[in-house]
Amino acid sequence: MNEKFETHEHDVLIIGAGGAGLRAAIEALGQGATVAVVCKSLLGKAHTVMAEGGIAAAMANVDQADDWRTHFRDTMRGGKFLNNWRMAHIHAHESPERVRELEQWGALFDRTSSGDILQRAFGGHTFKRLCHVGDRTGLEMIRTLQDRGVNLGIDVYMECAVTRLLKDGERVSGALAYWRETGRFVVFKAKSIVIATGGIGKAWRITSNSWEYTGDGMALAYDAGAELMDMEFVQFHPTGMVWPPGVQGILVTEAVRGEGGVLRNKDGERFMERYDPDKMELSTRDVVARAIYTEVREGRGTEHGGAYLDISHRPAEYVKRKLPSMYHQFRELADVDITEGPMEVGPTCHYMMGGIRVEAETAQTTVPGLFAAGEAAAGLHGANRLGGNSLSDLLVFGRRAGLSAAEHAKQSGQVTIEAQDVLEATREMLEPFERPAGESPYDIHRDLQETMHNYVGIFRNEDDLKKGLSELDSLKARAEDVRVEGSRLFNPGWHLARDLKAMLTVSEAVALSALERQESRGAHSRIDYPNYNEGWSKQNNIIARGEHGMQLKQRSTEEMPAELQRILEGQ
Ligand code: FUM
Repeated sequence: MNEKFETHEHDVLIIGAGGAGLRAAIEALGQGATVAVVCKSLLGKAHTVMAEGGIAAAMANVDQADDWRTHFRDTMRGGKFLNNWRMAHIHAHESPERVRELEQWGALFDRTSSGDILQRAFGGHTFKRLCHVGDRTGLEMIRTLQDRGVNLGIDVYMECAVTRLLKDGERVSGALAYWRETGRFVVFKAKSIVIATGGIGKAWRITSNSWEYTGDGMALAYDAGAELMDMEFVQFHPTGMVWPPGVQGILVTEAVRGEGGVLRNKDGERFMERYDPDKMELSTRDVVARAIYTEVREGRGTEHGGAYLDISHRPAEYVKRKLPSMYHQFRELADVDITEGPMEVGPTCHYMMGGIRVEAETAQTTVPGLFAAGEAAAGLHGANRLGGNSLSDLLVFGRRAGLSAAEHAKQSGQVTIEAQDVLEATREMLEPFERPAGESPYDIHRDLQETMHNYVGIFRNEDDLKKGLSELDSLKARAEDVRVEGSRLFNPGWHLARDLKAMLTVSEAVALSALERQESRGAHSRIDYPNYNEGWSKQNNIIARGEHGMQLKQRSTEEMPAELQRILEGQ
C-alpha cells in the first residue's frame, strides 16, 4: 500500500448512515466486528427521515386481525407480485420484532389508550399497521439508531464520500474516499462492505430527496461488478409540495391521507372515485400519483399544477398533534394553515424500488464480501413499494446485512489493496481539475434532471425512452469533459462532478430497463403497453457491466412455495 494516503482498517465498512447503514453497523458491532460507517453528509441527515408517517409492522395493536400473512400479502400485491417473495416473507415476519427492539433502544411512539404502540392506516395496507410518532417517525428512528450506534462505539467518518470500491481479485477489499472539507483522499481497508446509500432522486427535477441522493452506492456496486435489478421501478410519491417553486417536491406525508385527508381537483371533485373507488385516497402510491398527474394533464389541476389535499375537516388540535411537521412546513414555507384550508400537492420522485441485487437471507450481492441493504438494494418491494415498508425494510435487512458482513469478515483471510488501484482512482477524481476547457457539472446536472423528468417520468413510451437514452449518451459524453475550477478545499462543483457520474450510470440503467419492459406494472407505466403482460410477470430485468458497456438481461423469479401462494390467494 502506498503510505502517503490516510488509511483506516476495519472488519466491516458501511457506506451510508441512514437507517439501514446504522442498523447494519449495530449488528456487525454486536458480532464482535470492528465497524466503520462512512457518510457523505452529516450523521443523521438521511432520507430515512422522509419516511414520516410510520413503520409498517403487523403488531395488531389497533386491528387485532392483522398478522404477518396479511402484511406479506399486501406487500406482494402492492409490488404486483414481482417482489422477491423470500424478502417479503422475512420482512413480514421480522418487522414487529425489529420495532419492539427499536422501542427498547429508546424510540418513542404514539400510544393507544391501553399503552401499546399506536398504528395508523396507510395506502395498500389492509389494516392500521403503521407504528408512528406524529409525522416524524423516520427522524425518531434515526435518532434512536444513532444514539445506540455511537454509544456502542461505531467509528463514524462524516462528510467523507466514497468514490470507488477496491478489490482483491474477485472480492472487495476496501474503498477510496475523500474528505469533502479538505478534498484529501482516504483509503478504507475492509473484509466486508455494506452499501446503504439510499436512492437516486436527485436525477429528477422534482424530488423529495435532498442533495445526497445521487445513486452512489448503486453505481459503486455496478462498477465493482455487482448486478442491478428492476431499475425501471421508480416511485413517485403522490404528494409533494408544488408551491412556491423553491419548495417544489418536498414531501407531504401519506399520513395526511392516513388521518383522513381527501384529494380534490380544481372543480372540487373527489377524483379518486374515478381511479380507485374502493380505496380512494388510500390506494397504492402508483395509482394515486398517476391519478393526480392525469387530473393536471387533463386541465383539472390547481392554480399551480397540482391537486388539493384537505385535512381541515378534522379538529385543528388533532391535526397539530398528529401532523405537527406538516402544520409547520406549510405555515412556514407556503403561508398556508392546513387546519383552515387545503394544501396543494403533486407527485414527487421519492424512492427507488430497483437497486443492487442481493440474496434475501444474507443481503449478499454477486460480488464476494459486498452486501447491500435499504433503498440501495432491490427485491422486497417489487414494482411498487407500500408506504411505511421502507422503514421496516431498513431495520430487517439492515440487521441481516450487518450480521452477514460480520460473519463474512470473521471467515475471511487478510485482504490486500493494490497501490496501483488507489492511484488510478485518485487520478480519475482529479481529472476535472486538469482539463484546460470543459463544461460545468451544474449545467450537465440540470440537463440530466430535465431528461429524466421529461422522458423517464410517471408515464413512459418507447419514443420518449429512446430519446431519453440518446440524451443520456450525449450527457455522458459531456460529463467525460467536465471541468471544475478552484482547489480541492470544499469545492461543491468537484463533488457534483463525481456525483454526476453515478447519476448518469444509474439513470441509464433506469431508462434501459424501462424501455425493455413492454408492459405496465406498478410504478412503471407504459402508455404504449398499458396492461400487464403475463410474459413479464415473472421476469426481473438485470443490469450488469459488460465489456462494451451496460448489459441487460432477464432473470426468472423463483417459484413460490404452495403455502405462500395460498396466502396470496387469500386462503
Ligand atoms: O409519506 C410518508 O410518510 C412516506 C413514507 C414512506 O416513504 O415510507
